[in-house]
Amino acid sequence: MPGNSNLRLARAAQNDEFYTQFTDIQKEVNAYLEYNPDTFRDKTVLLPCDDPEWSNFTRFFAQNFERLKLKRLISTSYAVESKRYKNYQPTLFESESPLFDKAKTRTKGKIFVLDHDTNANGRIDLDDLEWHYMEGDGDFRSPEVCKLRDEADIIVTNPPFSLFREFYTWVRKANKQFLTICNKNCITYKEVFPDVKKNLVWSGRTEWAGGMWFKTTNKDDVDKIIDGVMYKNTPSIWITNMEHGRRHEPLNLMTMKDNLRFGKHKDLLEEGYLRYYNYDAIDVPYVDAIPSDYDGLMGVPITFLDKYCPEQFEIIDDGTEVPKTREHISYKDKGIITYEEKGKVVWSTPYTVSERKLGNSLRIERNGLPTNCPFGRIIIRKKQQS
Ligand SMILES: C[S@@+](CC[C@H](N)C(=O)[O-])C[C@H]1O[C@@H](n2cnc3c(N)ncnc32)[C@H](O)[C@@H]1O
Repeated sequence: MPGNSNLRLARAAQNDEFYTQFTDIQKEVNAYLEYNPDTFRDKTVLLPCDDPEWSNFTRFFAQNFERLKLKRLISTSYAVESKRYKNYQPTLFESESPLFDKAKTRTKGKIFVLDHDTNANGRIDLDDLEWHYMEGDGDFRSPEVCKLRDEADIIVTNPPFSLFREFYTWVRKANKQFLTICNKNCITYKEVFPDVKKNLVWSGRTEWAGGMWFKTTNKDDVDKIIDGVMYKNTPSIWITNMEHGRRHEPLNLMTMKDNLRFGKHKDLLEEGYLRYYNYDAIDVPYVDAIPSDYDGLMGVPITFLDKYCPEQFEIIDDGTEVPKTREHISYKDKGIITYEEKGKVVWSTPYTVSERKLGNSLRIERNGLPTNCPFGRIIIRKKQQS
């Protein structure tokens, strides 16, 4: 129904309006500089899906233009009419500018460029940004923004959550360096995970725990208000293909024996490390309980990727397409999953929504039979010494 689909689009659009805090950008970007002070030297940085007049991405990169040794900074915004913004007022920056155009303000994107000292005050910073309306609405998929992407060296942003798959494919297609915010689950998307597995893409510097706080304009979905500013917490993370030091810090882990004697997890102390019924691996329910001396395959929570050090472990699989190493699962009619061995049903369970949401088809084995499906696992192995 057109009415419903409009409502859905409006909701998706509202959920895209989250604004990143300056300190979060600063903390993340500083990590790349600490690792390599020349990460941004002579680079053209593109900030698409931004609102340059008030975006902290534009502020941060413009204010730090000289420290980062940038060649060029380009930031683009998406037209208010395209983003279905209701209470739109152009900023004073725009409305008081000689470039202000009443006809274009709602329908055109804006582009901000910084590459020289326009006000001749001896330094290049936020006050030197030049802007104009774009030909189109600033959609990152438009030929105009694709061209900017192709000319840039590094792409940095917090893109619309509802279009993340498309945005990721768009960035990767151009084979550029990038740094982007996304929902934690995005790292297991079929567009993203193969890149993570091949070490082409990884988690950014900021730890995953606690999610991220964004400024929001959606009054109906607020977690806290400080000085009248509304904030929303979401399970967001940074992902990137740029090097930073944290990713090469190995996890400090105990041996399997020590985990089973001195570990803090009651279930492991009681049951030990269980195996899967349908995959040749042990289940490790906690990242801090990964045994340092186990050479076989291990299923670990997705949050492992926050701590993943490629010199310590390798990623084997995302646990969604489990090879049929034992007799197999058949999703039979009436929503029942049955496990059969030699043609006989040995175990069955209703195929519920919550089963499906677990995000993988691994099953823990107890007493020789399949039991529960652990929540979201990926399969890893200790890095083999070559
Ligand atoms: C999550 S917000 C982040 C904004 C800003 N980058 C920040 O972090 O403060 C995503 C922005 O992308 C815009 N957007 C939505 N769809 C877009 C599209 N197709 N092309 C470009 N921008 C889009 C939204 O209007 C929103 O302003």
